[in-house]
Amino acid sequence: MNILLIGSGGREHALAWKLAQSPLCETLYAAPGNPGMLEHAKLVTVDPADHGAVIAFCQEKAVSFVVIGPEAPLVDGLADSLRAAGIAVFGPSKAAAQLEGSKGFVKDLCAREGIPTAAYARHSGKDAALADLARFGLPVVIKADGLAAGKGVIIAETEAEAREAVEFMFSGGFGEAGAEVVIEEFMTGEEASFFAISDGTNVLPFGSAQDHKRVGDGDTGPNTGGMGAYSPTGVFTPEIEAEVMERIVRPTVSALARDNMPYQGVLFAGLMLTAEGPKLIEYNCRFGDPECQVLMMRFEGDLVDLLHRASQVDGLKDAPPVRMRDATALTVVMAARGYPGTPEKGGTIDMRAPHNGRVFHAGTATVDGQLVANGGRVLNVTALGANAREAQALAYAAVDAIDFPSGFCRRDIGWREVARESA
Ligand code: AMP
Ligand code: GLY
Repeated sequence: MNILLIGSGGREHALAWKLAQSPLCETLYAAPGNPGMLEHAKLVTVDPADHGAVIAFCQEKAVSFVVIGPEAPLVDGLADSLRAAGIAVFGPSKAAAQLEGSKGFVKDLCAREGIPTAAYARHSGKDAALADLARFGLPVVIKADGLAAGKGVIIAETEAEAREAVEFMFSGGFGEAGAEVVIEEFMTGEEASFFAISDGTNVLPFGSAQDHKRVGDGDTGPNTGGMGAYSPTGVFTPEIEAEVMERIVRPTVSALARDNMPYQGVLFAGLMLTAEGPKLIEYNCRFGDPECQVLMMRFEGDLVDLLHRASQVDGLKDAPPVRMRDATALTVVMAARGYPGTPEKGGTIDMRAPHNGRVFHAGTATVDGQLVANGGRVLNVTALGANAREAQALAYAAVDAIDFPSGFCRRDIGWREVARESA
């Protein structure tokens, strides 16, 4: 089949690499894609916000399957438009994508289904929100309800900070996303991510990962989209996975099916492993970036087959179990100087020196035949090893072989897992 992949980051480069390996894949198109994907896909310019144009493109090129990488087109209903046009699509409907698009929607669903998560309150008026703060204690978590490019969460340590956060959101600090606010109890524990593929009814576990959100070594400095990740993580034991599947993921998928918004796609659960067991922090309706890169390194099956099955009603019913390499994959993000503020564009990248890593492009462009930085996160330098220590050593050896003078990276990606392995 001919396939169209929507997106342009490292996540989509990893998906393109894996999709193109499938014998089921004839021509792979990527819109808009990036220079790293040229090996696997034809890059095309189709605006994902223009649903009619995406459908017309699919009809013209006989594309029968679309894989949507990022959340924005999902929350915007691109999957619904494609399905209505008879085109199979991997990714949830607009209604089901509320799992990522509305934090209040998720919290209400958890409350109804008895899914473990932080205690919360939803507010659409500032005064009521301010009056409600006290009962949550400190620290307290204040969230803009809608999509805020990963920035809509404030953890307030003092009452004054909490009040300021509420005022900020209701005065439009996060735009429309903050028209409604969720106040949450602060949970403590280690964070881990878990991924599951669903066809709306059947759900297959797709592995665990941990990422590093802060820009600096030792988990310091401002938050980013993620400076590195690894999979699996030892804290996510088979027992925890079973508990997360039974108490969090399956009840979510069942509730959405019952409410006529079956979830077809990948469900990305951000979890807090608390003393009382795993609790849901948030859902995303897409693969993580850069978590996808490490999952794809480990995935042994046919990605087109798996994702296409997930796009069909009951398609995963007789699917083979997901097989993941019994090894650790680790990715280091090389970012452009200035990130997560304003990144320097145009810095040259030379990758001619040999190394044993796999480099996924995240924010690159080619200018006059020269590869240059064209975004905040630029390269995802990835390796597979017998354990985290080995994967880390291989990934950094690859980083050191890349000449990218205006780039930087953290030097400690995977530290938690390496420490666990040495304990
Ligand atoms: P989110 O965008 O909902 O994933 O939140 C971003 C980050 O804020 C999470 O990765 C957590 O580190 C933190 N966070 C969110 N909600 C809570 C909570 N209820 N308790 C503690 N930390 C939280
Ligand atoms: N790396 C976190 C995310 O993709 O949301």
